[in-house]
Amino acid sequence: MFQAPMKSTADHTDNPVIDTLRKAVSQSPDNLHLRRHFAQVLLEAGGHKEAEVEFRAALALAPGDTGLGLGLAKAFFHQGKHSEALVVLEDLQARPDLPAEAQLIHARVLNARGEKTSALDHYRRAVALDADLADALLLEQLGPKSPIDAGTAPWPANENTSPQRREDVEPVPSDETALPEKPGITFKDVGGMEKLKEEIRLKVIYPIQHPEVYKAYGKGIGGGILMFGPPGCGKTHLARATAGEVNAAFVAVGINEVLEMWIGRSESNLHAIFEMARRNKPCVLFFDEVDALGASRADFKNSAGRSLINQFLAELDGVKSDNEGVLILAATNAPWNVDSAFRRPGRFDRIIFVPPPDTEARALILELLLKDKLAKDIDYPALAKRTGSFSGADLKSVVDVATEARIEDALRSGKALPLTTKDLAAAAAKRFPTTREWFATARNYATYSNEGGFYDDVARYLNLV
Ligand SMILES: Nc1ncnc2c1ncn2[C@@H]1O[C@H](COP(=O)(O)OP(=O)(O)OP(=O)(O)O)[C@@H](O)[C@H]1O
Ligand SMILES: [Mg+2]
Repeated sequence: MFQAPMKSTADHTDNPVIDTLRKAVSQSPDNLHLRRHFAQVLLEAGGHKEAEVEFRAALALAPGDTGLGLGLAKAFFHQGKHSEALVVLEDLQARPDLPAEAQLIHARVLNARGEKTSALDHYRRAVALDADLADALLLEQLGPKSPIDAGTAPWPANENTSPQRREDVEPVPSDETALPEKPGITFKDVGGMEKLKEEIRLKVIYPIQHPEVYKAYGKGIGGGILMFGPPGCGKTHLARATAGEVNAAFVAVGINEVLEMWIGRSESNLHAIFEMARRNKPCVLFFDEVDALGASRADFKNSAGRSLINQFLAELDGVKSDNEGVLILAATNAPWNVDSAFRRPGRFDRIIFVPPPDTEARALILELLLKDKLAKDIDYPALAKRTGSFSGADLKSVVDVATEARIEDALRSGKALPLTTKDLAAAAAKRFPTTREWFATARNYATYSNEGGFYDDVARYLNLV
């Protein structure tokens, strides 16, 4: 239903979606989300040359963006520009948030250049990080066929990492994002965030579990919680866990769908999403990067954009009247771009700052991340102390980097040694917390445009008040 049109279109020329996106990009050349989306659509539709141009343009807006770098590498690779692809991929290798998929592309590029040994090395890394990336055909071209090469890491595979990693890799969600899922995680899998969990219990969970109590007090159910904060601090993770907590379906709607709606079948698609949520209730409907709607409002010079926003607001209001059992959560990194109309009562009337995890939460998160890994006598409090300002995603990448190093050792020596505190501390020392940049921007808003105390929590976090 929400299939991205590019998937079904082998030929990118003469594709109305691409034409529309091209126009939209030329009207809003500085809209990073839009450029990213367009580049991705081109890549998937086979328009590799134009995709290359678009990824470059997007990278000019967001230099150092790993997802865009990977996109550019793919665009090069598909045009047979192997040296160019290699330059980008080698640069990406130093990134702590490097997705498993990048290793696979790296392997393909090296294979195409006949550098089989290095290709095999990257292929192994890819598969060690994400077993789903195993590619028998590629492996055959690369040579050896021992069980290790087939993708069996001498390591208990961490089932939790693979899907999430892919989510991290692909800034543009796939069509499946709008399909209901039954998350296998609950609040137990979320470290810290106690205040937020409590807020969600009151506003989201109890109304599902005890509708009669809310009715008895004439308290309408509805409205949603909007979470905002620096990237990687658990907003999406918590939304998914909320659905798991009440055994509800989880429908995530990402920026991709929202933009797609904007350019075309907009209102009816948005309505269809809410309808699908109703059919699957109890259901947590999660809108990610919701700022894109509000942020683009200024860009929405045409009435189509405005009517989409109004439709979204109307659907939200509708949740109050007949959507019992449909619970709305939303998240954004850019609360300053969220349209103020979203904040009215009955819409997102709880807006909650999700800060980076505190020391205690970091210890818990590390413990959760290492739960299924081969690790020994880890000193969690010590690691938590050394990782100030780290987001959950940063911690995850620390664990991934340390694990990867161990896997390499294991492949070399044939012995799988457990991870130690030292390994993790070493990986952490090489990493810079990604939340800092966000706070640099947020600090300005908290200082200069804190109308209605909107950023009070941010100001408190930064010790500004
Ligand atoms: N409190 C937490 N407990 C356990 N894991 C966490 C926690 N916070 C973050 N993580 C880990 O970090 C990953 C990234 O978190 P998540 O995707 O939820 O961040 P986010 O706030 O949605 O980021 P973004 O703003 O970039 O979308 C999660 O998949 C999870 O593995
Ligand atoms: Mg998220």
